[in-house]
Amino acid sequence: MNGRTCGSDTAIVWSVGRVHLVELHEQPWFPAVWRDLLTDYLSFYATVFRPYACVGPLLAEALEREGTARIVDLCSGAGRPLLSLVPALQDSGICDLEVVLTDRFPNLGALESIGGTGAKVTYLTTPIDAADVPMSLKGFRTLFTSFHHFRPESARAILANAVDNGEGVGIFEYTERNWLIWGLPTLLIPLFVWLCTPFMRPFRWRRLLWTYLVPIVPVVAVWDGFVSNLRTYSVEELHDLVEQMADDRYEWQIGQARSIGVSRVTYAIGVPWPLA
Ligand SMILES: C[S@@+](CC[C@H](N)C(=O)[O-])C[C@H]1O[C@@H](n2cnc3c(N)ncnc32)[C@H](O)[C@@H]1O
Repeated sequence: MNGRTCGSDTAIVWSVGRVHLVELHEQPWFPAVWRDLLTDYLSFYATVFRPYACVGPLLAEALEREGTARIVDLCSGAGRPLLSLVPALQDSGICDLEVVLTDRFPNLGALESIGGTGAKVTYLTTPIDAADVPMSLKGFRTLFTSFHHFRPESARAILANAVDNGEGVGIFEYTERNWLIWGLPTLLIPLFVWLCTPFMRPFRWRRLLWTYLVPIVPVVAVWDGFVSNLRTYSVEELHDLVEQMADDRYEWQIGQARSIGVSRVTYAIGVPWPLA
């Protein structure tokens, strides 16, 4: 097992323990129209600001080592975090890339805009729970901005399930329990949502309604953003989750990669050791 970190000691002062508060958009009762507007916003952010560009090479390397060009993305939302990496994956030699987007609450509106990447992309319209992936879904599993949704038992089960099925797995999160990095940006989320909304496509009247007239999207975005940071696993906790599986069939790479400004993407990538 190896790891790459780029944290500093001063950051520890600003770090807090993991707290599993409730995120609104993950609740089954939460209206789909609001959830979809929220995940549209997250996809807009991922497309324009590319916080995950820094982990593209790591994902490409993992796919190459596993010898697969098929990715099953779990908790996809509107799907853009992974799709924004497709050109980089293709440039690094992953040919015939196939992407399957999935979610427990699929953002069906996003189906309109998943084309045009040059890869074969599908979005499963049937709900797929990341904690219970059907065996028939073959491919390297990715989770962007979503591993924090799961409590440690479920988080470990997600990794163990990938291992038991012989699939590679990569989790990537730009959120972090570090208020020095995320305190001010989190407070500014509503302003950011209001400024970004006119540029989001496709145009939808309901986006304007629930962002400006009745500001549900900015309010949910700031609360869920705050809770997401509080729930995000640290590098050490990811090491613990992997070690608790006590499985030596996989090689794990766990660490942080420098993202936008001072922010980092925390990642854990597991691929089966090559057969001797
Ligand atoms: C914070 S959003 C992230 C969406 C997308 N990956 C992104 O980064 O833009 C979390 C997503 O996880 C989905 N989700 C929550 N619980 C889930 C579960 N148990 N299984 C699968 N998806 C889940 C939600 O519907 C939502 O789309």
